[in-house]
Amino acid sequence: MFLNHLSLINFKNCTEASLQLNQAVNCFLGNNGEGKTNLLDAIYYLSYTKSYFNAIDSQNIKFSEPFFVIQGEYSIGNENVNIYCGVKKGTKKQFKFNKKNYTKLAEHIGKFPLVIITPYDSNLILEGSETRRKFLDSLLSQFNKEYLDNLMAYNKLLAQRNATLKQMAERQTFNQDFIEVIDIQLIEKGNLIHRERKLFLEEFIPIFNRFYSDISKDHEQVNLIYNSSLNSDSFENILKVNLNKDRALTYTSKGIHKDDLDFRIMNDYSLKKFASQGQQKSFLIALKLAQFEYIKQKKGFPPILLLDDIFDKLDENRVNYILQMIANNKLGQTFITDTSLTKTPEILSNLNVNHQVFKVEKGAVHLV
Ligand SMILES: Nc1ncnc2c1ncn2[C@@H]1O[C@H](COP(=O)(O)OP(=O)(O)OP(=O)(O)O)[C@@H](O)[C@H]1O
Ligand SMILES: [Mg+2]
Repeated sequence: MFLNHLSLINFKNCTEASLQLNQAVNCFLGNNGEGKTNLLDAIYYLSYTKSYFNAIDSQNIKFSEPFFVIQGEYSIGNENVNIYCGVKKGTKKQFKFNKKNYTKLAEHIGKFPLVIITPYDSNLILEGSETRRKFLDSLLSQFNKEYLDNLMAYNKLLAQRNATLKQMAERQTFNQDFIEVIDIQLIEKGNLIHRERKLFLEEFIPIFNRFYSDISKDHEQVNLIYNSSLNSDSFENILKVNLNKDRALTYTSKGIHKDDLDFRIMNDYSLKKFASQGQQKSFLIALKLAQFEYIKQKKGFPPILLLDDIFDKLDENRVNYILQMIANNKLGQTFITDTSLTKTPEILSNLNVNHQVFKVEKGAVHLV
């Protein structure tokens, strides 16, 4: 699967761009704030139907313009596919596969798998559990359609349960039967999601450990642990035991919506508190490369890889590790951003990697 052509109108600071892309490596090079990451985000949009950086679609329209359009021409096997994403202020987002609107955006997820490695990944370590759950969910959704459907159904039921708890508290009534009807469905979906997350992580963690030990040259051990209240008790029991508390709080305090990934280093120390910056970077890269490898195995072809700010995120050894993977044909189509106009092209040329360079300046993109 390759993105052969990308065109943009009024996307963030880019007024217009029409880029014929290389099937191996594409470099977007330029100074700070010129629009390199914006180009990666446009490619991200085409795979995930949304921005990696800003969830509010209308804020990705170029300042004081009424709309943006992103279009991508992909080839999958012998087939050519056109993906269109249009956002106009005050109207619903248009997302089309070969000119046909999707009935549900979720149907698109996973068709054009993509992994992004960016300095913003440190949020996975620094922020609360929601960020890590999103990472987990978005990864699973790339190859497990049922998972995404179950998750969306779970979230709907959860919102319904919370609204009911709130309403009953306001009216000072309590209808146990009503809550139980919701709970039966919530438990069913919750159990399915918990099982999928558990099965997935059993496969994923060894791949992650392998990448970490490769990158860190076996310097120290790391751990990735799946925390879920459902690991030690049935969801049914958890809801029952916490019902009074949930009534008082007027929301559902326990369930798979509170699951977390626990990042540990040197066996049992918190990565956030005790790991050095370099160790944290290695952890994140291992996590992302494991994501890449896992999706590649499941799909049978490599996802598109976006490497944002490659030399900021990675020191030279780690950059070489990744570029060596490209040179060994382990990666698929790759997009790299960097501020230096010469560094990445030089390394790629030395490794004999086929690549194309674009210079980005004030949102305009030129083939070099
Ligand atoms: N909706 C928008 N409309 C117009 N410009 C925008 C919009 N959103 C972001 N920008 C501009 O895009 C620019 C940032 O682009 P981007 O993040 O792609 O830079 P970059 O080349 O990756 O820089 P760096 O090297 O610092 O990472 C900023 O100047 C910002 O003001
Ligand atoms: Mg950037």
